[in-house]
Amino acid sequence: MSIQQYRNSHLHIENVALRDIAQDLGTPCYVYSRKAIEDSYLAYRNALDSDGENKHLVCYAVKANSNLAVLNILAKLGSGFDIVSLGELERVIAAGGSAEKIVFSGVAKSSADIRHALEVGIHCFNVESETELARIAEVAKSMQVKAPISLRVNPDVDAKTHPYIATGLAENKFGVDIEEAPRIYIEASNDPHLNVIGVDCHIGSQLTELAPFEDALQRVLTLVDSLASHNITLKHIDIGGGLGVTYQDELPPSIESYIKMLLSKLGPRQINLVMEPGRSIVANAGFLISKVDTIKSNPVKNFAIVDVAMNDMLRPALYNAWMQALPLSLESEEPLTTYDIVGPVCETGDFLAKERILAIAEGDYICLNSAGAYGFVMSSNYNSRPRAAEVMVDKSNYHIVRERESMADLIRGERLLP
Ligand code: LLP
Repeated sequence: MSIQQYRNSHLHIENVALRDIAQDLGTPCYVYSRKAIEDSYLAYRNALDSDGENKHLVCYAVKANSNLAVLNILAKLGSGFDIVSLGELERVIAAGGSAEKIVFSGVAKSSADIRHALEVGIHCFNVESETELARIAEVAKSMQVKAPISLRVNPDVDAKTHPYIATGLAENKFGVDIEEAPRIYIEASNDPHLNVIGVDCHIGSQLTELAPFEDALQRVLTLVDSLASHNITLKHIDIGGGLGVTYQDELPPSIESYIKMLLSKLGPRQINLVMEPGRSIVANAGFLISKVDTIKSNPVKNFAIVDVAMNDMLRPALYNAWMQALPLSLESEEPLTTYDIVGPVCETGDFLAKERILAIAEGDYICLNSAGAYGFVMSSNYNSRPRAAEVMVDKSNYHIVRERESMADLIRGERLLP
């Protein structure tokens, strides 16, 4: 059964009517489904567990949605986490995640980041450059420990996704050139303060085909096999995140078929797979509800101005992303009309969904679907707008998992000149 459906003309998530949440807590409001998050995580887990002996690890990419309740749901299922900052590390620990299942990605880690991560005992650093590798060795030496590392290689494959979220091409800033990797691995394996355990890559986000993943893994396997001939045996390959979801009519491969492809490519090698999915776990588990404030028309357009804006949901403005917009109630007697759904922020780019046919009036509510990934986490206080509340639906109940920001929150920490 779908987690989102109309019942008695009202849009429900699991067994909760979104209208009840909107009326009770106000809008804008992010709503997540516990079941949807669990189901996607378990799709990864179960497909990986079908591989018998190997200890594959799912490290949810915290950047996609870092709400503590989301992290806690995943931690309870035994998930690992992929982090990119000390802030994300704090969140994972506060949510009950295990340090030894954390991989630390991120384009440039400071000595302070490295020290703290070594103190809590993370699983692995995903190293982005030779400078960072030297820095990790130096910090580990000063602490008299051995740092577990993996080198992020750039396999130079075209992920065929939006250019802002493609990361695996030679022209991108990420990782080290795969041709340089053998030399760096040999040097690292001779360093007494580094423990070389893996290799990682991440070629982009919202991929809707398997071929780029397959090409990337093939290149990484060639590297793994050549390292083995130098007596460097890696324990894991971290293939990163990136599996796409359906926003409109995309047909991404299923989690099961993706993992089947990866496992069959590994063949008989005794090596663990680490994965860093973000979007494919939370995107379709999240919804953003708004209230229609004003309906306004000019000779060429009808606008529904809602109380959600680009500061709450940046993806349409930044990537021209398409989001499905549904009315919370089907009971409207208004005529079906084509609207641009826009926010109240002073920018032409402040739109959420263009040219949508809806029967709505001022005061009605609209739900934006697939808002669970890169939604709240990319929100800001632009135009001095307090950030939205976040709510978790759990079967027939719902819980506030982040309070709406107050006016006092908006100016916290600011000072007038003496
Ligand atoms: N691992 C690494 C190293 C990453 O850089 C990312 C995402 C992930 C894992 C998770 O990828 P996912 O499974 O979520 O595709 N704000 C953009 C997406 C940026 C993705 C950045 N890296 C958007 O809203 O589309």
